[in-house]
Amino acid sequence: MAERTLVIIKPDAVQRQLVGKVLTRFEEKGLKVVAAKFMQISQELARRHYAVHEDKPFFEGVVNYMSSAPVLVLVLQAEGVIAMSRKLMGATFGNEAEPGTIRGDFGACRGYNLVHGSDSPENAAYEIGLYFKPEEIVDYTLANEDWLYGSND
Ligand code: RTP
Ligand code: MG
Repeated sequence: MAERTLVIIKPDAVQRQLVGKVLTRFEEKGLKVVAAKFMQISQELARRHYAVHEDKPFFEGVVNYMSSAPVLVLVLQAEGVIAMSRKLMGATFGNEAEPGTIRGDFGACRGYNLVHGSDSPENAAYEIGLYFKPEEIVDYTLANEDWLYGSND
């Protein structure tokens, strides 16, 4: 099975009605959506998600931010999807992210940053397990998969 990552279209993107535009970036790249859930994250779940940052000064802030309003949670699948998604998202905050990236094109501050993506296979597996049961992830073949993922060897 190809690599998977957890992507969250965050509360600010939902409130700013940018869900479609953000999702389109991942779709146009050719990354396959294999699971999706529109939900409001509880404080407890946000704490578990960002547990690696428990000791950081921004921990309470990011927990409050992520649980403040609804989000769209996605699992994307493709070879190399973790690194590709992080590149599409850009640097952590919009005021530093390059134009052409999601954060660089839609964000201008250091508080809210529109989107989350797992940063390693281990964290992806942990995060996917926080939001989805195995049966909620749908493995299927895209009609144009040969053109998207094929080689000309
Ligand atoms: P994410 O995990 O959300 O995809 O973002 P990231 O990898 O680019 O950044 P990370 O270092 O993992 O930080 C997680 C989230 O915490 C908030 N943050 N605030 N005030 C700060 O200095 C600060 N640093 C990080 C952001 O919401 C970031 O996305
Ligand atoms: Mg991170």
